Amino acid sequence: MRRLRDRRMRRSPKQVPMIGLMDSLPQSVDALAEGLRAAGYLPGGSTALVAYLATRLHKPVLVEGPAGVGKTELAKAMATYLGRELVRLQCYEGLDEAKALYEWNYRKQLLRIQAEADGAGWAEVQDDIFGEEFLLARPLLAAISSPEPVVLLIDEIDKTDQEFEAMLLELLSDFQITIPELGRIAATSQPIVLLTSNNSRELTEALKRRCLYLWLDYPTLEHELAIVRLHAPQLPETVARKLVETVAMVRELDLKKPPSIAESIDWARALLLLGRSDIDAATFTETMSVIVKHRTDIELVAERVGLALR
Ligand SMILES: Nc1ncnc2c1ncn2[C@@H]1O[C@H](COP(=O)(O)OP(=O)(O)OP(=O)(O)O)[C@@H](O)[C@H]1O
Ligand SMILES: [Mg+2]
Repeated sequence: MRRLRDRRMRRSPKQVPMIGLMDSLPQSVDALAEGLRAAGYLPGGSTALVAYLATRLHKPVLVEGPAGVGKTELAKAMATYLGRELVRLQCYEGLDEAKALYEWNYRKQLLRIQAEADGAGWAEVQDDIFGEEFLLARPLLAAISSPEPVVLLIDEIDKTDQEFEAMLLELLSDFQITIPELGRIAATSQPIVLLTSNNSRELTEALKRRCLYLWLDYPTLEHELAIVRLHAPQLPETVARKLVETVAMVRELDLKKPPSIAESIDWARALLLLGRSDIDAATFTETMSVIVKHRTDIELVAERVGLALR
């Protein structure tokens, strides 16, 4: 019992200071925007500003928006720009602590108990088997216990349930977690945390309160043109412009699934592969399945947009 208490004391946050690598953080919003661009991500609207505040205020960012508008990519670009490892937790229905936070390594614990079976008493073995050596760190624990600060991406948080969200609160506000057998584990380095959501369910107020908020929407025409040209530089500008104008027209319709930036990029690459130098009605009809992916949407788009193209 005494050994367990000692371990808790050693782990108290006061004795494990945060390693705030302030020098490696962006010095201004413009510097961060430039860094993201260099990493292949073109920030629009208030993206760079919110990301800058997050790094400086040590607050997580909740990034919401429709599918394929660059939520996940933002976290990847931040990691590239800051030269940090990206630790990713992909959320899904039924995700629990054992997969997200930590798990005891039961096999190793069992081997330890067997090895000590003869001599030692239960109390001593128990102290031993609930030590760090027997802990399997899952992404959240790995992120806060990494010696070097990382970027932590908690992707598609809306796929989990509210209990999981509640479990995250301690981590997001205090950068620490509590393991009943071990006590409080404070962060040894402070991660930059990004959570993404497709809005498939409303997140709790408690979670939102702890985060900065970034809404990513479909980009403006010029912004999307720049993104498409970045990903498909060989596509002539006139074609790329017509492509983003057409995609914008398609988004105006009341579709089940409007095309995202991801689909615009795919379409640009498809046109390049097929060697098309114009988007006329025939090319559009032939290739529209790259951007429209529901049967009812296809009919509507063919009728409204296909005919508008010459
Ligand atoms: N601002 C941007 N600059 C450069 N590329 C971008 C930008 N926004 C999106 N992209 C590109 O669009 C694609 C889709 O982005 P991403 O996967 O991040 O979307 P998402 O919002 O996470 O979608 P989902 O909700 O479906 O997961 C990626 O290939 C990414 O490179
Ligand atoms: Mg994503």
